[in-house]
Amino acid sequence: MSNPNTFYITTPIYYVNDVPHIGHAYTTVAADVLARYWRLRGRDVFFLTGLDEHGQKVQQAAAKSGIDPQAHCDKLAPQFQALWKRLNISHDAFIRTTDLPHKSIVQQYIQELFDLGLIYKAKYTGWYCTFDERFWTEKDVLGGLCPDCARPVEQLSEHNYFFKMGQYQARLVDHIKHHPDFIRPESRRNEVLGFLTTQTLGDLSISRPKSRLKWGIELPFDKDCVTYVWFDALVNYVSALEYLPQQPSVDQFWPASVHLVGKDILTTHAVYWSTMLMALNRPLPHTIFAHGWWTVDGEKMSKSRGNVVDPHTILDALGADAFRHFLFREVPFGQDGDFSHATMITLINSDLANGVGNLLSRTLTMIERFANHTIPAASTPALPALEATIAAVAISLPGKIEQGFRSLAFRENLQAIWELIGLCDAYIDKAAPWKLAKNPEDQPRIHTVLHTTAKALRLIAVLLYPYMPQTAGQLAQQLGLAFNFSAPLPQTAYEWNAPFPETKICKGPSLFPRIEPHSQGAKTVSDTAPPPQPTAALPTMEPSAAMPSAPSPTPQAAAIAQITIDDFMKIQLKTAKVISAERVPKSEKLLKLHVSLGEGGEPRQIVAGIGKKYVPEALVGKTIIIVANLKPAKLMGIESQGMVLAAGDSEVRGLVTILEEVDPGTKVK
Ligand code: MSP
Repeated sequence: MSNPNTFYITTPIYYVNDVPHIGHAYTTVAADVLARYWRLRGRDVFFLTGLDEHGQKVQQAAAKSGIDPQAHCDKLAPQFQALWKRLNISHDAFIRTTDLPHKSIVQQYIQELFDLGLIYKAKYTGWYCTFDERFWTEKDVLGGLCPDCARPVEQLSEHNYFFKMGQYQARLVDHIKHHPDFIRPESRRNEVLGFLTTQTLGDLSISRPKSRLKWGIELPFDKDCVTYVWFDALVNYVSALEYLPQQPSVDQFWPASVHLVGKDILTTHAVYWSTMLMALNRPLPHTIFAHGWWTVDGEKMSKSRGNVVDPHTILDALGADAFRHFLFREVPFGQDGDFSHATMITLINSDLANGVGNLLSRTLTMIERFANHTIPAASTPALPALEATIAAVAISLPGKIEQGFRSLAFRENLQAIWELIGLCDAYIDKAAPWKLAKNPEDQPRIHTVLHTTAKALRLIAVLLYPYMPQTAGQLAQQLGLAFNFSAPLPQTAYEWNAPFPETKICKGPSLFPRIEPHSQGAKTVSDTAPPPQPTAALPTMEPSAAMPSAPSPTPQAAAIAQITIDDFMKIQLKTAKVISAERVPKSEKLLKLHVSLGEGGEPRQIVAGIGKKYVPEALVGKTIIIVANLKPAKLMGIESQGMVLAAGDSEVRGLVTILEEVDPGTKVK
């Protein structure tokens, strides 16, 4: 049983055959988010990451650089460490499998298994893939190619040592069946179970003759062989606890709470590692979670395609927190995700610049203006219904987030936090303190609005901290709160009704300036041009087979036609507040918005072709400009009572908004 007061989280140890990329950053940031969350909640956390330095891949990479493998590892290791520093990774230990204590622990374990009669020597003949460093059976190999990487395989015969993995098959199936959290997500668990219940699990070759591979840990009982790289690497999760903390901590932290791995290395963890642990008589980890892979603009990321995403380029342009937020905001953890430059910029602008950044800045500006730079106490309700909704959401949020972290629902947690941000924005718009300020009797109501919003921002800072530690620090600091995120926070930090002292605020620079989609700073992916976005700027009909396409305009027809002032005056432009937004089913680009034009009227429904540029949640609470007197039309069967204004031509570049706070329904001319 894992200890409920501790949390041991690991990443895979990365091969040092090349510099780290976004895939490595993904797992490491995910582990960091969990580690930061549980530390803040008071658990004793051990967060381990590191490098897998042995094996054929590393030997080959070193040979290519013309240096010896150890020198190659020593050269690359600091590059991983430097990236983790820039990404604010808070690991407690960094293991390298060439560390002497690790090597001797691996030898100790192998000797133990040998002495128990669980390792035997045998001749093996099979199809070998040098790239994947593994043998395949006759039926796996199709057309002489490796079923995994599609490279040619060669037939090899050699004496090797085998671990009696097969004898643990039934026990492993039983364990998986009785521990629903052992392999996650569910679909991956089913995959492993499917394989283990339909095929016979063979024994595992755990050695390589030195004649073929020199770069590895020597077998303690045969100096002509080195250990198979996986049999060495997997042991890191336990060996690290023996020698990297100040005192050996295996009893305290083993079994691991979560091994985070990519989907490609689930079998090695769920099957090889689990059976090794069974043989060594140690408990199995609580959870092995397999996440998905990142593609780039729809393509597999690879050196040969030249589309490998270098995290440093993103960090240079956007900083750590924006990158960390992007990694988890859109793609459910466990599924594959597509990295696109455009999506990242859209998210930064909608969630960070216009979202949390804007909420902080407008709240603090009003506290400066209407409350003498001090967070006021709440008194007379301003909008009781909305205040009750915010309170209800805020009270349930910490529990929801905790549940989310237990199930590694990183995206859902961010969605829930942004729901509160959206609610606060809508609340400020509706309460309109700048209007209340005209009447001195309304001062207590202004105070309630500012108190409520500042309190929500306090909670947002606490809950955002695991994802965006720097931003959380800045939020707290600008709100004048003395939070120390490097130690567990008191329970009151999560409680909506905990007292909120009337602190003096300290408004600083804006947290996230907006990014121009095509500005230099946004060119973040090496050699990767942003994909064209075929979104129309304004609501257009989804092309239908029945609709003839218009002929391309001639140069003359494309010239700008002039209109008279009377023509223009016919167009009624108004400000409108977005109340809700959702995607139109089966359409990539259409969003259905409900907007308010104020005066207590019914919200209007507008269908707009902005869905490739904006995620619906990002629009709620925003003030936009609409053509209010456009004849209603149906788009994909849904009535649209107006049109939103947006900049852009064949693609939407940005919605038209307004600089000052104005009431919805205000005329625009
Ligand atoms: N050394 C082994 C792991 C041993 S753990 C005891 C290894 N190393 S790796 O460097 O090749 O891969 C490390 C991790 O990076 C894997 O979890 C893999 O899934 C992940 N990724 C590699 N490319 C990726 C993407 N494009 N997207 C997301 N993760 C990806 O395997």
